[in-house]
Amino acid sequence: RMLKRQIACRNDINRMNGGLLAIYESLIPPEEEKTKQKQLLALLDRIVRREWPDARLYVYGSCANSFGFSKSDIDICLAIEDANIDKSEVLLKLADMLQSDNLQNVQALTRARVPIVKLMDPETGISCDICVNNVLAVVNTKLLLDYAQIDVRLRQLAFIVKHWAKSRGVNETYQGTLSSYAYVLMCIHFLQQRRPAILPCLQGMEATCTVTVDNIKCGYFDKVEKLYGFGSHNGESLAPLVWAFFNYWAYCHDYANDVISVRTGSTVSKRAKDWTRRIGNDRHLICIEDPFEVSHDLGRVVDKFSIRVLREEFERAAEIMQYDPNPCVKLFEPY
Ligand code: CTP
Ligand code: MG
Repeated sequence: RMLKRQIACRNDINRMNGGLLAIYESLIPPEEEKTKQKQLLALLDRIVRREWPDARLYVYGSCANSFGFSKSDIDICLAIEDANIDKSEVLLKLADMLQSDNLQNVQALTRARVPIVKLMDPETGISCDICVNNVLAVVNTKLLLDYAQIDVRLRQLAFIVKHWAKSRGVNETYQGTLSSYAYVLMCIHFLQQRRPAILPCLQGMEATCTVTVDNIKCGYFDKVEKLYGFGSHNGESLAPLVWAFFNYWAYCHDYANDVISVRTGSTVSKRAKDWTRRIGNDRHLICIEDPFEVSHDLGRVVDKFSIRVLREEFERAAEIMQYDPNPCVKLFEPY
């Protein structure tokens, strides 16, 4: 494979903007969904407080980070201060209570990597997953939301990339491909790297919010209203960015040596993180550093088979963006 292949973008690329923006718009959840989510959250809050009066519910993931499509499930974190609780016990108890309150399809998955209770609310038709004390996810959700406020092109690009990944079947961590969270981090990193940069590196600036979660100090500049217009020196629109994103992951990313790092606004070396060889099940074939849990490689789910699938999909997308007369159809063709 040729690394750092420099190719010029097709000269009619801006013709694709309209189509891509229309797809983006069509995926944005309508306002009434937010209302229904709040309604369900209020119901769950009442139920939880009966047993744990000091507990709090936080929405995290796509319903709170602004990268959610219409009809997404809600991810909720039940935060209980007491450090001595047994998560499985809490989840089983919670499942019991939800069942008695007539919520449907209640299921406690206590052995999952992130143990959860699943449920469906017959009133609103919304499904949700509730986990316990996964506060780091609440914090990284706010980081993603804050980045999204700075430049609308992040949300546009991430919607297109997520929609592509879902259509092409490469958004399945249990099959060795990447989570939506990983794809959004790839988009943030990519926009930090544009010249002129479209996004700043919030963790590289003066910290205006700081929390310590699971012994990890999470701090960054969150006064994003001060950063509106940060990327205005860069006039690139959605289509050339989508083209360049896939071109980067198809031909320019150095898979052998580089880790992408939103935390530093740059790449760091695999050697420096000791991510050069397989350790247990972590193979580090594509490396995406979690912005706070820096020892966590979001690419660790990728194995020697799925890395090929992923790279072929990046190449396919890059080729379509470069040569296809109608990329908006071909890019999202079901696999
Ligand atoms: N998360 C995490 N670490 C991971 C995966 C996920 O901390 N390895 C947290 C993040 O806070 C993320 C949330 O879990 O926002 C939900 O992850 P995911 O389902 O990948 O993203 P969503 O934004 O919910 O995407 P989708 O629309 O596909 O549900
Ligand atoms: Mg989700």
